[in-house]
Amino acid sequence: MNQTLRFTVLLLLCSHVLSWRKEEFRTCHQTPFCNRARSRAPSSSSLAATDVTISDGALTAKLISKSDPQTKPLILTLSVHQNAILRLLIDEDPSLSPPKQRFHVPDVVVPEFPSTKLWLQRISSENGPSSSVYLSEGLSAVLRHDPFELFVRDDSSGDRVLSFNSHGLFDFEQLKQKSEGDDWEERFRSHTDTRPYGPQSISFDVSFYGAQYVYGIPERATSLALKPTRGPNVDESEPYRLFNLDVFEYIHDSPFGLYGSIPFMISHGKTRGSSGFFWLNSAEMQIDVLAPGWDAESGISLPSNRVDTFWMSEAGVVDAFFFVGPQPKDVLRQYTVVTGTPAMPQLFSIAYHQCRWNYRDEEDVEHVDSKFDELDIPYDVLWLDIEHTDGKRYFTWDKVLFPHPEEMQRKLSAKGRHMVTIVDPHIKRDENFHLHKEASQKGYYVKDASGNTFDGWCWPGSSSYPDTLNPEIRSWWAEKFSYQNYVGSTPSLYIWNDMNEPSVFNGPEVTMPRDALHYGGVEHRELHNAYGYYFHMATADGLLKRGEGNDRPFVLTRAVFAGSQRYGAVWTGDNTADWDHLRVSIPMVLTLGLTGMSFSGADVGGFFGNPEPELLVRWYQLGAYYPFFRAHAHHDTKRREPWMFGERNTELIKDAVHVRYALLPYFYTLFREANTTGVPVVRPLWMEFPSDEDTFTNDEAFMVGNSLLVQGIYTERAKHASVYLPGKQSWYDLRTGTVYKGGVTHKLEVTEENIPAFQRAGTILTRKDRFRRSSTQMKNDPFTLVIALNSSQEAEGELYIDDGSSFSFLKGAYIHRRFVFKNGKLISLNLATASASNVRYPSEAVIERIILLGHAPGSKNALIEPSNQKIDIELGPLWVQRARAPAVMTIRKPNVHVAEDWSIQIL
Ligand code: GLC
Repeated sequence: MNQTLRFTVLLLLCSHVLSWRKEEFRTCHQTPFCNRARSRAPSSSSLAATDVTISDGALTAKLISKSDPQTKPLILTLSVHQNAILRLLIDEDPSLSPPKQRFHVPDVVVPEFPSTKLWLQRISSENGPSSSVYLSEGLSAVLRHDPFELFVRDDSSGDRVLSFNSHGLFDFEQLKQKSEGDDWEERFRSHTDTRPYGPQSISFDVSFYGAQYVYGIPERATSLALKPTRGPNVDESEPYRLFNLDVFEYIHDSPFGLYGSIPFMISHGKTRGSSGFFWLNSAEMQIDVLAPGWDAESGISLPSNRVDTFWMSEAGVVDAFFFVGPQPKDVLRQYTVVTGTPAMPQLFSIAYHQCRWNYRDEEDVEHVDSKFDELDIPYDVLWLDIEHTDGKRYFTWDKVLFPHPEEMQRKLSAKGRHMVTIVDPHIKRDENFHLHKEASQKGYYVKDASGNTFDGWCWPGSSSYPDTLNPEIRSWWAEKFSYQNYVGSTPSLYIWNDMNEPSVFNGPEVTMPRDALHYGGVEHRELHNAYGYYFHMATADGLLKRGEGNDRPFVLTRAVFAGSQRYGAVWTGDNTADWDHLRVSIPMVLTLGLTGMSFSGADVGGFFGNPEPELLVRWYQLGAYYPFFRAHAHHDTKRREPWMFGERNTELIKDAVHVRYALLPYFYTLFREANTTGVPVVRPLWMEFPSDEDTFTNDEAFMVGNSLLVQGIYTERAKHASVYLPGKQSWYDLRTGTVYKGGVTHKLEVTEENIPAFQRAGTILTRKDRFRRSSTQMKNDPFTLVIALNSSQEAEGELYIDDGSSFSFLKGAYIHRRFVFKNGKLISLNLATASASNVRYPSEAVIERIILLGHAPGSKNALIEPSNQKIDIELGPLWVQRARAPAVMTIRKPNVHVAEDWSIQIL
């Protein structure tokens, strides 16, 4: 590299890390397609559906323009799927030879989905003003012909559930041949987008009925319930933007799009419940949420229990899915039938992760690792950031700093711990780097608009990017993770994919130019939001191959798209060590969960800046409930491992980490629930209390599963917190067992020791109370059951266990129990479905303690069946490891096996 080049790189790197520069990014105003779409008036679409027929079991029609007969008709296809899912496809007519085939995003819809299609036999009134088809029991999909509109209707009430183009805002810019004089180029700052195919955007309106709020469409730092962006009494703001970008020092309240894009929205209202809309399109998208009364000018009066939204995308096709709910969990189920449920993670990966940019060398790693042991703080994973490599060449090690990578991993592994290294998509353009040499020779890189290998700047300087849209390149990439190819890797090493938006420091908006070219001539603009998805997919496949299909991959990604939940975890990127970022981490994590990405978390402590000890402690206390729990920090920050802030703070952090480890059995069970149903591990309160309006905009508190409510503390030196506890049943303080009434906002005292957390009456929590070095070492430890009785003296809970790492659970090697407490008797029921192969998970683990909260006093003993053994009921500590834990009704050492059927009758 010559001097000038070196200087430029340095400058780029520096400007990159200083602060977020707003002007680097386009606003809607600076984005022609967004401007064109937003300036359209309601009812300006003059389309009519004609030639409505059934073909291949789906309804098809032509959409013709009445105002401009020269416009070519579009082809509409409507298909109905099991689980009341409606799919709408609108594209150009291939028989009319459009200049180019528009991009249909591949490999997001799960391969099983097409087989769930219901074969439509007939349509009612195809020649009348509308056609309707059966969607599911009591629901129809209705296509109004003129003007064109689509809606889902509840047949018994006649009420609408969801609708498309009710405001006549649908617009579809068809591809044209360029004529003389057409200037299609777009310029932004110093960049020119050649736009060889011209305008090709799509926009339309979608309405959610019986809804008070809409949620979803991550990723951004803003409130959980999406605020209107346009309409009466609304300060017109930017629309919600979906465009994967590396936004440094993002601000904590903005509709601006961050690293990931999931074009899925879920609505909720008190009476109707929830419905959902997913647009499978990976081009830049902008979405307006319209305030009630928005189109009053056009004479349409909007009932207040409906939310109208306006969707705009730069390219692609309409491939849209309508989900009818009616409950929030049903919508999640429906969405994950289409895009897949979250992968079942390894047990270690849901425990605590210690990360920093960077742990300097092997000595540093050893020191940090041994400090955790010395202080008895459990942790499971130590992370190495970009500096561990030989000059930012991924899959290599810096020979001076990390001369013995295998030995280093083996030492961690001996304590049941794991390591994660970073592998980013930018490959250093160095002729001596084997990966670059091979990728260049094979032509595996993304090309620029002129068809040459795209060259952009990232951490290593001049870099190129593998074109992982191509399945062949994905499989080549996956091979790089074999032990043979990734020299120095061992079976306890897992992977972190960062900068996969992709981040290109010298590109427009810090990303790849939209006219760059991918496999099959696909323009980057068409696929941008899914680039990181394919990269993540290829990496996860690599770990799968490496483990011969029997080791669950763990890959953390920064960029996500719909479907990323099948490949791993996500974190919310480069947040800042301040209280606002602590607060916004909750709506961000909840929103990701609502759109399938259940395994998510924010950098504990905040990436940029130095947290005050109080903020760091509060972050650990909250982060202990994130599905993904990792501390991380920028390299310019001061060291902040748990022991850096004096004994008291170390104790407080240790205590927060202990809570997570105690609750691991509960978390693991929830991860399995997400894996089977799509319902996220952490949930907005309204997912559990769908008819309680007071929960709809609450994004300070959240549910972990159905049993735990957690309230963050987001201010300095807080002495009190207002906590709303929903529902009719009471709640038990997780630490003290103190009972609180439901349906009330409580003003509670708070101390530095913990943030408020409550167990819902009527639930049974499973815990492991012995702390060891890592979750792996707790594998065979006994369980504690905490039974929180409701007003009928009843409670229920579940426990799921398997080997924590392999795929044997798919063959039946797991334990799944339901514990039911009723009529003074606790019974353990088997929920596992008998497997054909008779495979079992042989656990010897027992239940060593049962705690009863809210039980009438007086009972002295209990009878265990079938062993017919009598056992004492005594007073014992609610938390054994805690000195000042209150005494509660306890059955000590019942020692019943988790894998077996038994009952315990309170006498
Ligand atoms: C990006 C990541 C951050 C990481 C850094 C260096 O900023 O978001 O987590 O530490 O790159 O790899």
